[in-house]
Amino acid sequence: SHVLRSAAYSTATEVKKITVIGSGLMGAGVVQVAAQSGFEVNMVDLKQDFLAKGEKIITSSLKRVAKKKHADDAAAQQRFIDDVMSRVHLSTDSARAASESQLVIEAIVENLKTKQSLFKALDGAAPQETIFVSNTSSLPIGDIASATARKDRFAGLHFFNPVPQMKLVEIIRTAETSDQVFDTLFAVTKKMGKVPVACKDTPGFIVNRLLVPYMMESLRLVERGDASMQDVDTAMKLGAGYPMGPFELMDYVGLDTIKFITDGWYTAGKGLVGDKLIAPSSLLEKHVKAGEFGRKSGKGFYSYEGVGADKGK
Ligand code: NAI
Repeated sequence: SHVLRSAAYSTATEVKKITVIGSGLMGAGVVQVAAQSGFEVNMVDLKQDFLAKGEKIITSSLKRVAKKKHADDAAAQQRFIDDVMSRVHLSTDSARAASESQLVIEAIVENLKTKQSLFKALDGAAPQETIFVSNTSSLPIGDIASATARKDRFAGLHFFNPVPQMKLVEIIRTAETSDQVFDTLFAVTKKMGKVPVACKDTPGFIVNRLLVPYMMESLRLVERGDASMQDVDTAMKLGAGYPMGPFELMDYVGLDTIKFITDGWYTAGKGLVGDKLIAPSSLLEKHVKAGEFGRKSGKGFYSYEGVGADKGK
């Protein structure tokens, strides 16, 4: 059967208020696009400091949008920013925030136990009909959902970095996710101006399932001495039309993140355990051990001195 149902039969429920938990790189981006699209949004994190950081990510991004929208009209730019921010509500109380939302989007640390305990607590606090989704890149949605009693109202909603720019959202349905929930998520992401695609709960979903083995193959090509990393990047940009070469892309994503994902799949990924496509790479390990995580740490395969941690992300 086709995983993607026709929107013509939509039974979507109306979402007015969204709670986003985690105001880091991804959470702040999701809050921004949701508020820009007219949703009321609760932005939740553990501490006020973290919320302030998230708020700063949003306002500096909105400033760029405002400048494009209203060039040479500073007052209109400020009105635009104020209007969007009037729909963003900061909170450190995830249970309370979830209790007044129709949709809860989780974007906290990539750790199964932490995500499970968060959702377990929220399950008791949120209304019956509230939909829970995780933005996880590498953990099985079904495993996170198992901590709740709302498996039919649980799905994956996988955004891409940077969220305001990247059009794609992968909607992940487990065997238990209901059609109504899928239709609601489809409608919400469309309203956000995104392009949703549907995928079953399988490691890497669509994009990372294809991208991660490609990254690992490029590491092995260089490890064998078949080509230099600079030539691999040039080749894929000019020969395959990719905007970044694989080594530039890995530096952008974060080498620690790639190691975390491949290690997880290699030891526990459904259908991927022991798969040589994602086996550990000595070149990747060497950089991660040295604390060279890519753009965010100023050095990875390439050096980003002067780029700064913010720009690196
Ligand atoms: P991040 O580290 O920038 O932000 C995580 C935020 O969650 C932090 O502000 C932290 O204080 C907060 N947090 C942690 N535990 C919390 C809790 N129990 N309650 C409330 N807040 C909590 O992480 P990032 O990069 O935004 O990633 C978040 C999620 O998004 C992860 O699951 C990751 O796999 C996924 N993701 C990341 C992408 C990326 O390119 N960084 C892309 C797509 C998905």
